[in-house]
Amino acid sequence: MTTGDWAADADGTPRGLLRACLEAAVAAPSVHNTQPWRFRISGGTVDILADRGRRLAVLDPQGRELLISIGAAVFNLRAAMLAHGRTPVLHLLPAVDEPDLAARITVGPPTRAPATAMMLAEAIPRRHTNRQPFHEVHVPAEALVDLSAAAEAERARLVVTDPRARDAVLDVVRIAEQRRRHDPAYWRELHEWTLPAAERHDGVPPEAFGSWDALETVPIRDFSTVRPAHRRGPAPFEQAPAIAVLYTRGDTPYEWLRGGQALERVLLTATVRGLVSTIMTQPVEVPHLRALLEDPADGNVAQAVLRFGYGPVSAASKRRPLEEVIVPADRPARASARQERKGPDG
Ligand SMILES: Cc1cc2nc3c(=O)[nH]c(=O)nc-3n(C[C@H](O)[C@H](O)[C@H](O)COP(=O)(O)O)c2cc1C
Repeated sequence: MTTGDWAADADGTPRGLLRACLEAAVAAPSVHNTQPWRFRISGGTVDILADRGRRLAVLDPQGRELLISIGAAVFNLRAAMLAHGRTPVLHLLPAVDEPDLAARITVGPPTRAPATAMMLAEAIPRRHTNRQPFHEVHVPAEALVDLSAAAEAERARLVVTDPRARDAVLDVVRIAEQRRRHDPAYWRELHEWTLPAAERHDGVPPEAFGSWDALETVPIRDFSTVRPAHRRGPAPFEQAPAIAVLYTRGDTPYEWLRGGQALERVLLTATVRGLVSTIMTQPVEVPHLRALLEDPADGNVAQAVLRFGYGPVSAASKRRPLEEVIVPADRPARASARQERKGPDG
């Protein structure tokens, strides 16, 4: 993948490189596969804009999960640029007068990508959310330590639960999931994002709904609840799932963007390790249940519950074509802010 030799067009835009990086960016996970991003290219700079029209008004009134999803796309873009031999220069929320401008990444000097960055970038197309039962195989401690280190590298925190905490966390997820099932507004939103239209390139398709765990040992979000024709088939889930909670150091848009980068780095590290994963954010969407995942003394804020294990390959969900998410560069945003890290290893 590494090559620093990317020809630029007459207008100075390294289009081939940026296209490859955007393909990686849009492969990121996003809540309900809303893909709430747009990209504006100007020379060697990509602006990543929040597409607020794709915010889930019921599930995500603040736009927190929207920005976490964008953070995940930012991580992929950084990793791909580095793997293609160029240093990404990142600014989060660079323009106060353009709040939807979530991040700006500029193509920096040629570099030789570290092995970790290469592996993470290569894992991008292999990472999918897996809602199937996992094998009854223990995840080794070294792998879990790697996952926590991946979160730390992005200035977030991943706490892997011991068996007692795991059961407590899963109880909270289960309560949140069951509560959601009685909320008609939530159903309507779920219905909108699970339309099995053949030509649709967003939303969660029936192939990705997963199986139904009758005992709800693993309380996966039930996308099929509003799609009786695609009810999930019953299957026993693993008895002792590996469960972790991802925390950020605050609950601001800036931290959500950081948390999204951490989330994706953790998920890609898991993929490199041969693990599959599930994101479960139901309890974080209900304030009093979210509080149960937090220790007020340490100031960490819960952003997602994650499940890891070994399991079958799961179906890829579609992505919108790049033509749909690239917007013309006719409205330059004023740049102002501080520089972030340079790449997945910076
Ligand atoms: C912020 C965020 C929250 C998510 N919450 C859940 C969830 O609660 N349950 C779930 O099954 N998937 C969840 N997902 C996964 C998305 O549904 C998934 O990324 C999307 O459908 C695209 O599929 P893919 O991950 O296989 O590419 C979440 C993803 C993100 C980024």
